[in-house]
Amino acid sequence: MSKIEVAKSAGFCFGVKRAIDMVYDVIGKESPLYSYGQLIHNQTVTDDLAEKGVQIVDSLDGLDGGTLIIRSHGVGETLYEEAKAHQMKILDGTCPFVENIHQIVHKEKEDGKGIIIVGDGSHPEVMGINGWCGNSAIIIGSPEEAETVEIPEKNSYSVVVQTTFRQNKYEHILEILKKRGISFTANQTICSATEKRQTEAEELSQNVDRMIVIGGKNSSNTQKLAEICKKNCRNTVHIETICDLVLNNLKKGDRIGITAGASTPPAIIKEVIVTMSEALENAVQNLEGSEEVTFEQMLEESLVTLHTGDVVKGTVIQVSNEEVSVNLGFKSDGIISRGEFSSDPSVIPSKTVQPGDEIEVFVVRVNDGDGNVVLSRKRIEAQKGMEELETAYNEKTVVTGTVTQIVKGGLIAVVNGVNVFIPSSQVSNRFIEDLNVFKGQDLEFNIIEMDRVKRRIIGGRKALVEQEIAAKRAALFETIQAGTKITGTVSRLTDFGAFVDLGGVDGLIHISEMSWGRISNPREVLKEGQTVEVFVLDVDKEKGKISLSLKDADMNPWKLAVDKYAAGTVVEGKVVRMVPFGAFVELEPGVDGLVHISQIANKHVVKPEDELKVGEVINVKVLEVNPEQKKISLSKRQAETDEAPETEE
Ligand code: F3S
Repeated sequence: MSKIEVAKSAGFCFGVKRAIDMVYDVIGKESPLYSYGQLIHNQTVTDDLAEKGVQIVDSLDGLDGGTLIIRSHGVGETLYEEAKAHQMKILDGTCPFVENIHQIVHKEKEDGKGIIIVGDGSHPEVMGINGWCGNSAIIIGSPEEAETVEIPEKNSYSVVVQTTFRQNKYEHILEILKKRGISFTANQTICSATEKRQTEAEELSQNVDRMIVIGGKNSSNTQKLAEICKKNCRNTVHIETICDLVLNNLKKGDRIGITAGASTPPAIIKEVIVTMSEALENAVQNLEGSEEVTFEQMLEESLVTLHTGDVVKGTVIQVSNEEVSVNLGFKSDGIISRGEFSSDPSVIPSKTVQPGDEIEVFVVRVNDGDGNVVLSRKRIEAQKGMEELETAYNEKTVVTGTVTQIVKGGLIAVVNGVNVFIPSSQVSNRFIEDLNVFKGQDLEFNIIEMDRVKRRIIGGRKALVEQEIAAKRAALFETIQAGTKITGTVSRLTDFGAFVDLGGVDGLIHISEMSWGRISNPREVLKEGQTVEVFVLDVDKEKGKISLSLKDADMNPWKLAVDKYAAGTVVEGKVVRMVPFGAFVELEPGVDGLVHISQIANKHVVKPEDELKVGEVINVKVLEVNPEQKKISLSKRQAETDEAPETEE
């Protein structure tokens, strides 16, 4: 055999490929897209789909419309109804083999049979199958469970098995059920793709020195492959991506077998094959038994040996804006390209390191084809960043990240080279319509969820913002006093007034406190985001309320009204409002006087509207001013009499 052998059916199975193709086909055509659970157990694909706008949901609560993707594992019958109720379109990626099991259990249940599912009860596929027989199935995960599980007496049972279950284990369980005297018909529902992959892995792992199993750590079919291979080959490693691969003591003659779980994309398998070929090329010769050792071999042995995945120290020998050359004490130098230098694309290598600096690097590939070692500094940053985030998560400390992307459902902030997702609901203590305002900003937040294996790190600022507001609130209520003047920003306008942010706490300017004159909507005076100087009218610490005013008491027109509108003077005013007993006339904004119906004309007036119109400008004589009660009595009749030319008797 050649040195590297890849199992024929490694990677995507028919069902997974079908579901993946379906989803990529609708990306960009339909929106929003929701995946009910992770589409496949592969982080690289999951990250890519998230970037393309596919949101993972585990419940339909709060969703209205959009497309719901059902993964190849399938779901229970009721979810289809639920999706309909939420006006959602379904993109059904259920593997046809799984769908067949749904149909079997549905029919058998209707025919009155009991259902037994052999499989892992916590696996979504098994949960989905159970959902097609009203969640009535007895689930058996192991021969031990088959011995002990309570099986009520029934005429007959129908047994189905999880598609990825091991054939011999299934047969063992059926044997036990038979021995227990259970009457059943067994359905062969193990997927041949799984069986084939497992048989190939079994055979391959018996004939190699090392076995690499690629696939998600939480993928049950990959775990089973790793389990099988470990029995035959003690040098078996289970990796998710090439970054996880650490090979110790790799020798040139080593035979390597590679297999991959059903959710592993072809690109990841290819990367492992290429890297392993190079690793074998560069591996130290197995010199055991050699009689002669050449000078070249001795020289090579004296040099550092490198393996993909190693973290080593090196000295910078040359720096440009685009790459850094590093001496590793290896036969060839290492190169860090700008893309692998830092997770922050704005970092310029030549401004960060100098020739002579010692730096830590990650070996991506021992030979790039031109004899150079491919290095990454970004991955070291990410590893350290990951550790720091884990500490912050465990110790509940605050981290600072820069917002680099706004994605569906939230934003991505980078903390020490690691992407942290902050859902929209956690960005602030209140809904923020346009998250783009945060782009490029440094934000402080807590790590509220962390799963290193799934590389799922969730940040949250809501509690932090609430704490900050509470502190600011307490400080503000300590200092704020009625009668003082302060500056704030209009945060929200309503029909009855404006809320003004005074630095974490909102005060209210009621519409009546916006002008000495009459206004019908706060938007006539203010706009959101405007900075305003306001007078504090009242502070209610207990209720946490602050009443504000835009009206300067010194400019109260009623204060000046006595002098300005002395009794007996004739002034101009505008009719603003009619009442049955007269008409109100505005002398200036905020100062209205009343022309009583008897003072409108020199004749009997039935209704003020018969003589006056709202908006009409008229001359009136001031009869009396009462500034305390804010009342001015006016007379149009007397103003007209004063104006009338004197006639000779
Ligand atoms: Fe379907 Fe078999 Fe794959 S059941 S999802 S083709 S492992």
